[in-house]
Amino acid sequence: MKNVRMIDELREAVRASRASEERIGLVPTMGFFHEGHLSLMRRAVEENDIVVVSVFVNPRQFGPGEDFERYPRDPERDEALAKREGVHYLFSPPEEEMYPGGYMTAVEVKGLSGKLCGKTRPGHFSGVATVVAKLLNVCSPDSLYLGQKDAQQAVILKRMVNDLNMDVHVEIMPTVREEDGLAMSSRNRYLSPDERAQAPAFYRALLEAKQLAEEKGGSVLPVLEKFKNRLASAGGMELEYVELVSCDKLEPLDRIEGPAVLAGAVRLGKARLIDNVLINCERL
Ligand code: PAF
Repeated sequence: MKNVRMIDELREAVRASRASEERIGLVPTMGFFHEGHLSLMRRAVEENDIVVVSVFVNPRQFGPGEDFERYPRDPERDEALAKREGVHYLFSPPEEEMYPGGYMTAVEVKGLSGKLCGKTRPGHFSGVATVVAKLLNVCSPDSLYLGQKDAQQAVILKRMVNDLNMDVHVEIMPTVREEDGLAMSSRNRYLSPDERAQAPAFYRALLEAKQLAEEKGGSVLPVLEKFKNRLASAGGMELEYVELVSCDKLEPLDRIEGPAVLAGAVRLGKARLIDNVLINCERL
């Protein structure tokens, strides 16, 4: 595995692979790898000749007062894990390489970025879309690998790729969970031992609501009520939002009639946790 920090160096490496008609896969990350990241790398290694994993804690997707400074980082461990998965290039650009002085451009997927998490994180999804657009331009992959845990991010990036005619296949992989159901996330390390023990109740509440939605269909209200009651009875978590939305436009639904996503965010101590379950479908 080669460590690359500069855009030109990665471009050069990728150009050579492209010339020999090799398939290229990109896994964009902010590092501090867990099994979720590793599952994306594994799939990318299976499906491509060359796999690029980017590690960049992107300042443009953090709002004021968010956790940019304290976001967990462990470059040495990340390097060892990526190497073990058979990754070819680990791209960790310095901030000035991605956003040099005079940088001015942003990508915004307008109709989607203000919904769900976007209501409390203005600018977040524009930061995500911008950095992923840049990474796609630098690396020109055949396939881009994303996790379903960040469902809104995945839907937004699929929309961006489609709207801007980017020639890349977007593969969304299932959420990887701890044994007790908690979705893996680098931010889980903000949880104290007591909070960590409470956290799986979030997913359990989503699962119970999903079961009701799929068995009964009809109005979404009892489904949302079920989720809220279960979450409240578990205690400790403050609900930021829960919504049942369409898979492509993330529009809130009144009735459950076809595929949908039940997505939510909660605060637990210093952590903000997000999670989602799919209703009447297997993949986003
Ligand atoms: O999901 C993430 O870790 C980030 O939002 C991403 C896609 C790497 C962009 O910075």
